Amino acid sequence: MAESWVNYAERIGADLHLDLAAAPGPGGRRAALIRALREAVCSGRLAPGTRLPPYRSLAADLGIARNTVADAYAELVAEGWLTARQGSGTRVAERAEPLKRAQPVIRRAPPRARGPRHDLRQGTPDASAFPRAAWLASYRRALQQAPNEVFGPGDPAGRLELREALTEYLARARGVRTEPGRIVICSGFAHALRLLFGDGVLRGPLAVEAYGLGFHRELLTAAGVRTVPLPLDEDGARVDLLARERAVLLTPAHQFPTGGPLHAERRSAVIDWARARGGVVLEDDYDGEFRYDRKPVGAVQGLDPERVVFIGSVSKSLSPALRLGWMVLPERYVGDVLAAKGEREAWASVLDQLSLADFIVSGAYDRHVRRMRQRYRSRRDRLVAALAEHAPHIEVTGVAAGLHAVLRLPPGTERSTVKAATWQGVALDGLAEFRHPEATEADMPVRDGIVVGYATPSEHAYGAALEALCGALPPGEEPEGG
Ligand SMILES: Cc1ncc(COP(=O)(O)O)c(C=O)c1O
Repeated sequence: MAESWVNYAERIGADLHLDLAAAPGPGGRRAALIRALREAVCSGRLAPGTRLPPYRSLAADLGIARNTVADAYAELVAEGWLTARQGSGTRVAERAEPLKRAQPVIRRAPPRARGPRHDLRQGTPDASAFPRAAWLASYRRALQQAPNEVFGPGDPAGRLELREALTEYLARARGVRTEPGRIVICSGFAHALRLLFGDGVLRGPLAVEAYGLGFHRELLTAAGVRTVPLPLDEDGARVDLLARERAVLLTPAHQFPTGGPLHAERRSAVIDWARARGGVVLEDDYDGEFRYDRKPVGAVQGLDPERVVFIGSVSKSLSPALRLGWMVLPERYVGDVLAAKGEREAWASVLDQLSLADFIVSGAYDRHVRRMRQRYRSRRDRLVAALAEHAPHIEVTGVAAGLHAVLRLPPGTERSTVKAATWQGVALDGLAEFRHPEATEADMPVRDGIVVGYATPSEHAYGAALEALCGALPPGEEPEGG
């Protein structure tokens, strides 16, 4: 007999789940129902005092006769599991002792891995600054105003409200040229890569910056895409070295992780390459909103929307836990990306999409980004000041934008510095973590350095984190004769 949910919430505000098929034994349906109800009481699933559904509704739901239900109830009343009183229906008896729960097995828990005392790993915004009240207000408005169709299957392109809001926002804040029909909502940058390469919308080989996020390289390798390291210099990626690759992945606004924007000439050069070779540029705009001293760097996408896939997410601006991102696509890829997503939205919650749309349109997103920009700028300034005071021999780079900086170290000192930081309770990564395994010393000389994420600690913990960091840095040269 089929499993069944009996919904009698209208009367008692609860659902009763009975599975007659899972109560095998002798006898017919009456016996099976008795066993199923007894099990529900015994196991404590039906608490003492709980009112059972009327015969008629339980019978209808289970597809059995009303009398069968009445007989089963009567039997259980006779056994003392249920009570039946005029006017208050049939209830689980107060004295019906649920099966004693097994004593929990006491296992010696492994010691909880304690996080580092000072977390200066790049990657996450200040989690204590998530704009809870403003997000809740947007969520509430989105929910109140949502038409009923919102609660049906979602459009794989994403909600139009969000795509419209992004069209306006990205044009205004990032210089992106698009329209809602070219935007596909996804759950973040990593998801965008999976959609583009995992389903064959784009093919490798893919040129990537010689220093970048290993997680993304691994994801691409898993999708069968060969990544080719592109050397970096002070002007960013050497796009003049692009050869037979079909696509290139860049972080033009703020090279990840070394910092610095892609030089204006290289921005044009990479578009020229894409036009000449039929290639495509993937623009990872992971922290484009966070710029401090320099003029805003608009999206490369604005130079040629038909040659660039622009990808962004809220992972740095709001939280990586929301899993919301967007792809701005050349027209020729829209159909394939939608096909890769499937018939229905399976990734990004439609209510979160509507909340983000409201968050952007109401101005809350701009306000939040402005507030966080000030906060991160002040942290950046404190980092630079602490280094100037305690480690003036250490060069700090990549500080004009973003949520992390790179401290350049004397050759050969990176590993020992990361170790020393660990001793000081500071978690951070060395630049080696980000280096493409196939990058050669001849093409891309090794850079010794550490990546300091200054957004992660909460406000009150930041000062102590800086102090511990400075204590871990290699000493400078002794002054002569000193
Ligand atoms: C280089 C880089 N790209 C993209 C992202 C965003 O990834 P996602 O949107 O998958 O969270 C991050 C991390 O936030 C990143 O460090």
